[in-house]
Amino acid sequence: MAKKKIIIGNWKMAPKEAREARRVFGAIKKTAGGLRGVQTVVCPPYIYISELIRQVSGHRCVMGAQDCFWSEEQAHTGEISASMLANMGVRYVIVGHSERRALGETNEEVAKKVAAVLKAGLTAVLCVGESERDEHGNYTAFIKTQIQESLSSMRKSSLENIIIAYEPIWAIGKSAQRAASVEDAIEVSILIKKVLSDMFHTEGAMNVPILYGGSVNPHNAEGFLGGGGIDGLLVGRASLDAPAFSEILIIASQA
Ligand code: PGA
Repeated sequence: MAKKKIIIGNWKMAPKEAREARRVFGAIKKTAGGLRGVQTVVCPPYIYISELIRQVSGHRCVMGAQDCFWSEEQAHTGEISASMLANMGVRYVIVGHSERRALGETNEEVAKKVAAVLKAGLTAVLCVGESERDEHGNYTAFIKTQIQESLSSMRKSSLENIIIAYEPIWAIGKSAQRAASVEDAIEVSILIKKVLSDMFHTEGAMNVPILYGGSVNPHNAEGFLGGGGIDGLLVGRASLDAPAFSEILIIASQA
């Protein structure tokens, strides 16, 4: 049987109102609930999680978070711990998104967050990706270092609770020139699997799902999912557009 595709919606800092969050999530859930071959994960802002999670039923469309803090100690004003998210019913946590790295998050902090997520019994969605593609191929060394340092303290038994999202920074968000090409994404997917195999020396490294993210929409989703080597998508802007995201989910179910 083909592996389930994993489609993650990262809502970032939107929508502005809870009512809109309920509406968009309800519409996504309706489509996602009918699709057997797709694991849908919606990552809203923290403040909407407790409300939206009441709409979750079954396993096809579950809730994720966009970040968490690495410590479980109380004295961290403004932060949210991985175990709080787990207790709320969240199943996945995005870690090391480029927009958080742009605010100063280091690989060392990302490693601590990955450890916290795994300790809480959740799946970590580790984001990696270069800011530019240089013709000398330095981006491959950059991605390799991101993975090695972000998973430095992880045991091989945790590989089954890790997803890696390749998100080239130049392809993310409104100012992106374009999505990466399918070839770019597959090339990096192979690189990621090689880095994991070299680090952990186990077959399990080959089974870690690799997602692509950066300007994914209903027009290019099929290319990424149909090419082989890409196990799912991390979708930003299009995940707040319920019809567009639903279309991506349907494409994933047929890929
Ligand atoms: P985008 O964002 O789909 O809006 O480019 C992707 C992401 O940052 O996860």
